[in-house]
Amino acid sequence: MNVKELISKALEAREKAYVPYSDFKVGAALLSKSGNIYTGCNIESASYTPTICAERTAISKAVSEGDREIEAIAVVGNPQDYTYPCGVCRQVIREFGKDATLIIAKNEEEYKVYKLEELLPFSFGPEDLDK
Ligand code: THU
Repeated sequence: MNVKELISKALEAREKAYVPYSDFKVGAALLSKSGNIYTGCNIESASYTPTICAERTAISKAVSEGDREIEAIAVVGNPQDYTYPCGVCRQVIREFGKDATLIIAKNEEEYKVYKLEELLPFSFGPEDLDK
C-alpha cells in the first residue's frame, strides 16, 4: 500500500468538501482489497442531519461500484491536527472492513496508522447476525 498516495488523494478530495455550515473540510481516500481507490468529501445540508462525512461518501462510492472490502482508508480534516472518524463512520467502516487500516493524517509526512479494532474495540458487525 502506498500511504502517501492515499493521503494525497484524501487531501485532493478534501478540496471538494461542501461545508457552508461548519466550514470544516474533510477528505477521505479508500483503498479496496481489489486495489481500487475511491475518494470522498463531506457534504453538508441546510437541514443539518442529512450531512454525510467524507469517509461515508468514499465508502458509498466503493460499495455502489461493487467494491465491498476496505483495505485501508485515509482521512484528512483539520490540517493543523489529527481528525479522527466519528462514531458513525467507524461503525460503517466496520461493516466493510473488520481488519481495515485507518490512516489519520495532517499531510503526507505527518500521519498515524491504526487498525479499526483499536478505534472501535468490541465491535458489532455482520458476523454477529449470522444464524
Ligand atoms: N466530518 C467528517 O466528514 N468526518 C468525520 O469523521 C468527522 C466529521 C464532517 C461532518 C461535518 O460536515 C463536519 O465534519 C463537521 O462535523
